Amino acid sequence: MKQTTQLHDPYTVISFSRQLSNVCFYFRYRFQPRILSARDVKDRTTTTLLGASVRIPICISPTAAQYSVAPPKGDILTGLATLKEGSLMVLSSHADVTIENFASEVCPSDGVFWAQTYLFRDRRNTLHVVKNAERLGFRAIMVTVDSPTDFTATSGRSDVTAEHLDPTDRDSAPNIKFLHGKKRENRNYTEDEMWSGNSGAGEIETFCHPTWEDFYWLKSQTKLPIVIKGILSAHAAREAVKAGVGGILVSAHGGRQLEGSPASLDALVEVVDAVRGSNVEIYMDGGVRSGTDVLKALALGARAVFIGRPAIWGLAVNVRRYTILGIDIVTSVVSSICVHHRYTLNKGTVFS
Ligand SMILES: Cc1cc2nc3c(=O)[nH]c(=O)nc-3n(C[C@H](O)[C@H](O)[C@H](O)COP(=O)(O)O)c2cc1C
Repeated sequence: MKQTTQLHDPYTVISFSRQLSNVCFYFRYRFQPRILSARDVKDRTTTTLLGASVRIPICISPTAAQYSVAPPKGDILTGLATLKEGSLMVLSSHADVTIENFASEVCPSDGVFWAQTYLFRDRRNTLHVVKNAERLGFRAIMVTVDSPTDFTATSGRSDVTAEHLDPTDRDSAPNIKFLHGKKRENRNYTEDEMWSGNSGAGEIETFCHPTWEDFYWLKSQTKLPIVIKGILSAHAAREAVKAGVGGILVSAHGGRQLEGSPASLDALVEVVDAVRGSNVEIYMDGGVRSGTDVLKALALGARAVFIGRPAIWGLAVNVRRYTILGIDIVTSVVSSICVHHRYTLNKGTVFS
């Protein structure tokens, strides 16, 4: 069914069909109660991700634009909230805070933080993120591979995005250090200079058709584990395992990239099957909006889920409290179902 309606969220416009497919696929799965069977079930929300312990399997996806939502310290506030909640946050390479400033206020080695990068056109940009992440105590590199080109034109995002961003004096994407083959000048770069149409400097640098060869190069540059973000098929998952990733984030970029790609919850099942037997960890993001959504993803084989928009919405309305809005409620739903019940999904997967 074709949908053309647009949904407005606080900072972007997403085509109804794509956002909604990520969200709606959760309704296709139902819990089957297993009555009178809940003896001695312990709190199961604590887990490890690439060996690091987290209190809840609900982590924060890398998102740019946090500065705009909660100026001037959006990413830092999310980082502090993450520490408080005992969760995991991935810092976006497109954040409007430098990785060094983020680290000086949040101290990544006190918690579990990963640094996200793209396979930038100029490899010095990728190295900038990776080497700083190593030095500053981040535990892994997440590399986003689902954006060979900027799908803005087909994604329903459109220029309206700009209306939601605070156009003031911040330096846009300061972690992208090399633009047009030269070191970035010592001044603030505007949103327009970086992201306008196809000619923005950051745009050209980011959306540059990388290949597996670029991925193997990145792998050779770091001892940190690599998590690949944006896998939606069994084939790509097997290639990623072959390439030596530590984890796979099954993701459709929150419906912001290729129009018509599968919903991530559906792809999760295929990816979990494809990597069975390896010790690669599988996570997913996209459309997680409630505790039962989290449980469904876990039951279908995800080790943890990641959230993008919900964390930013929380940041927008709850900016001073150093909490991720709603994560406590979501967590209590997850633990109460885990602790007090055992459920079976309708596809036969036992969640216990
Ligand atoms: C405003 C915004 C900015 C984003 N920026 C990035 C980014 O810089 N790097 C990246 O890999 N993904 C980015 N994403 C995608 C998220 O990491 C994530 O895949 C997606 O938001 C998950 O879907 P959800 O919002 O339904 O939870 C962004 C998403 C949003 C909404």
